[in-house]
Amino acid sequence: MPHQAYQIDKMISAKQIAARIEELARDIRARFSDTDKLVVVGLLRGSFVFIADLVRELDLPVEVDFLEVSSYGNSTESSREVRIFKDLRGEVEGRDVLVVEDIVDTGHTLTHVMNLLNARRPARIETIALLDKPSRREVPFKATWTGFEIPDEFVVGYGIDYAQRNRNLPYIGKVRFTEE
Ligand code: IMP
Repeated sequence: MPHQAYQIDKMISAKQIAARIEELARDIRARFSDTDKLVVVGLLRGSFVFIADLVRELDLPVEVDFLEVSSYGNSTESSREVRIFKDLRGEVEGRDVLVVEDIVDTGHTLTHVMNLLNARRPARIETIALLDKPSRREVPFKATWTGFEIPDEFVVGYGIDYAQRNRNLPYIGKVRFTEE
């Protein structure tokens, strides 16, 4: 449970998210139009809402798989460890892969995930992140597609949590701490 009281200010509406996902899905369909073997890999838990909406816009033969990793260590260190909590069920060797993430923040998580998955020799691998906070980067990372660039704010909703709460908000909101 969070210790401090907070309010949530709406930042990106459900309608804006849906419209952006339609655009992104068009680009993704074009990029993978030749594939008969796309594996869409959602990073748990934050991407579960995004991946559900995205794959329903894709109109491609897709498989859906999930990977749960957690990065820990001092956030000011430039090399944090990333631990696998839940690995993929399927193989990605020789397959086309789209990795779906909620937010790229410091860049550590996706950098490690890409190293891990590239070592399994996929035919092609691309990444999509709903949100990107470029000003927070500690290691260079650029997703193939980004939904929205946002400033350095702590956000929740649409799958994204604060202390495991607020994942079920239909929009993205920014957390504003208030006096008790
Ligand atoms: P990073 O790019 O390795 O720093 O980590 C990205 C992960 O940090 C995301 O998948 C989120 O789980 C978490 N994260 C980063 N920023 C926020 C935020 O504003 N709200 C909630 N979780 C966040």
